[in-house]
Amino acid sequence: MPITYDAEKRLFTLQTANTTLSFGVFDHGYLFSHYYGKKVKNADLSQLWQPGASGFTPNYDGAPDGRHALDVIPTEYPSYGGGDFREPAIGVEFENGSRLLDLVYQSHTIEKGNKEPDGLPGLSGGDETLEVTLKDAFTGLVVVLRYVVFADIDIIVRNSRIVNETGKPLYITRALSASLDLCEGKYDMISLYGGHCYERQICREPLRHGTQSVGSRRGTSSHFHNPFIALAAPETTETAGEVYAAALIYSGNFIAQADVNYQDAIRLQIGIHPADFRWKLENGDSFVTPEAVLTYSATGLNTMSQNFHNAIKYHLGHTKFRNAPRPVVINNWEATYFNFNEEKLLELIGSCNGLGIDTFVLDDGWFGHRDNDRSSLGDWFVDKNKLPHGLTPLIEKCEAQGMTFGIWFEPEMISEDSDLYRAHPDWCMRLEGRPYCRGRHQLILDLSRDDVEQYLEKVIGDILSTYRISYVKWDMNRHFTDAYSANLPADRQPEIFHRYVLNLYKLLGHLTETFPDVLFEGCSGGGGRFDMGMLYYDPQIWTSDDSDAIERLKIQYGTSLVYPPQAMTAHVSACPNHQVGRVTPFRTRAAVAMSAIFGYELNPLSLSEQERASIADQTAFYHSIQPLVMDGDFYRIVDPFTENSCCWMFVNKEKTEALLTYVQKLRIPYWHRKIKLTGLDPDATYYVDEIHGGVKFRAGGDVLMNAGMAIPCANDFEDKVFKITKVD
Ligand code: DGJ
Repeated sequence: MPITYDAEKRLFTLQTANTTLSFGVFDHGYLFSHYYGKKVKNADLSQLWQPGASGFTPNYDGAPDGRHALDVIPTEYPSYGGGDFREPAIGVEFENGSRLLDLVYQSHTIEKGNKEPDGLPGLSGGDETLEVTLKDAFTGLVVVLRYVVFADIDIIVRNSRIVNETGKPLYITRALSASLDLCEGKYDMISLYGGHCYERQICREPLRHGTQSVGSRRGTSSHFHNPFIALAAPETTETAGEVYAAALIYSGNFIAQADVNYQDAIRLQIGIHPADFRWKLENGDSFVTPEAVLTYSATGLNTMSQNFHNAIKYHLGHTKFRNAPRPVVINNWEATYFNFNEEKLLELIGSCNGLGIDTFVLDDGWFGHRDNDRSSLGDWFVDKNKLPHGLTPLIEKCEAQGMTFGIWFEPEMISEDSDLYRAHPDWCMRLEGRPYCRGRHQLILDLSRDDVEQYLEKVIGDILSTYRISYVKWDMNRHFTDAYSANLPADRQPEIFHRYVLNLYKLLGHLTETFPDVLFEGCSGGGGRFDMGMLYYDPQIWTSDDSDAIERLKIQYGTSLVYPPQAMTAHVSACPNHQVGRVTPFRTRAAVAMSAIFGYELNPLSLSEQERASIADQTAFYHSIQPLVMDGDFYRIVDPFTENSCCWMFVNKEKTEALLTYVQKLRIPYWHRKIKLTGLDPDATYYVDEIHGGVKFRAGGDVLMNAGMAIPCANDFEDKVFKITKVD
């Protein structure tokens, strides 16, 4: 039984394979947190919190001995007004202007399994769900806290539902998904920051007293910060030490923060960013917060990542592509940019014949009169100047070569030079009459409007039902400014960001259900919306517009903190690289891209004979290892942020097969790097086989993991890839 309730002690205990979370109902009805961490058998940990006096921390009404202050007691879902001066999880404004809340326990239910939240993506296949109903007696406001246990993968999902039973409308000003009060301790905060072409770099800094946060107010989760936060003990490494982590299944504005008080107690929170957010809740209505995915590992960062990876791989979304083989794609963007016509594309597709590439994806520029990025977004009909016979000749050419056809859309945008804009100038996000910003010369379609959502269902649906299309690349290339909707009343304007996200999910839900055989790939100027919300619909996301193999080491390594390699699209592109001008070996570019969902982003005709000839070998090799990349456990071995090389490995569940990829940044004379492997069976013997070199030997799993193996001296930007197979 993953979730139990001890009625006598009024104690809830949530158990996973290796962790325990517990909290209890205190005298007044407050929900006080007891513990989250390594599994304990007896979860009565009430001795841990000693509610007592603390200077300048007022005690709540009716507190035993008048000595209980919410400011120093760990609480499950803190609110404002009752003496807890730290960051609340919820904020409301009632009709009389009061913001005071006092949430106390009413009842609870424990049920088998879990239901995904209405209108929001969530994990499925949970073991048990606990819902605890809290109420503010003075106003009648109800808050239902929801916990779902995924026992074997050490994941606990949390979110809340705010129900207005006050008889009058109210405003929600803050609605976080999870708040976790941890006992005192010293931790580093780990987050993923970045920028365009520089996504998900790892930031690890010691926590200080006060509040430290990351977040996005850009309308999407963004390149700049990722909806994830971890607190790791200072000594925690990839393979040892404790770490708490939370990620949000949401694609819009978010906040992830840690607050440390003077007693060194920590409050970890994640949810929708409260800035630029206010939601009017009519009497009888409810508001559901996105799911927060929590995990705890006592065995280092690799375990934390694998817990998240397992949640994504086996519990997020319903697309049939989640764990099915994914196509090796060739995308024409870096090969042609906007400069193509039918003849050029047919030649490009023809050049792929016999190379083992599964799908040709036609990127930006096929619609309206889009010869550059100044026009046509919104006009999703084929440009007959470039493609006089439509898409059919391209599709037929692909199919004649045993390939399928994919296409690019940027549905959420509108160009001022478009028929759509001329017909519906009020469909974009801005305030009529006021000067407004452009990003990449384009405006954002106001997807908070239902008519815009319906229009997009229709136009994209028309293309997907007219043509045999197996793959959609869904792009989004600017962040929100002028966030104003011509369709919302004044007091609902601050709802625009969340309404946009809800309708985006509605649109993606509709399209992925209507076209279940189409694989959707997410993209936002590369990896600018790489989050679990998008991954629910799009099982893979274009990881970055920076396709340089050496830059990608850090980007893919950082991304893997939360997201599995089977969620990352990575392509071999031409050299000198278009983003950084670096020249790297063709083989290294492939080795890095093969550690994810593999493809090409180049014109095969521009390659040397030798490079072109190697594509068929690369695709054959990738097809043979893709099951490992999709389903295997991923281990980070050498950190490219701190070292002159990078190494990671995949190990299948049975621990009989592994793939080790090592990439040198710059050569060091005579340097044979020794690395210790992870994840193997210590009692098994393995055969280590260098794919393109002469290293071939047998060794025990215990030897490879404890003594390690030597990597032959590698040149600048050179890869060393090894297949490791259990022999007995
Ligand atoms: C940004 C994407 O990340 C690129 O891959 C490409 O699709 C361009 N947009 C096209 O405009």
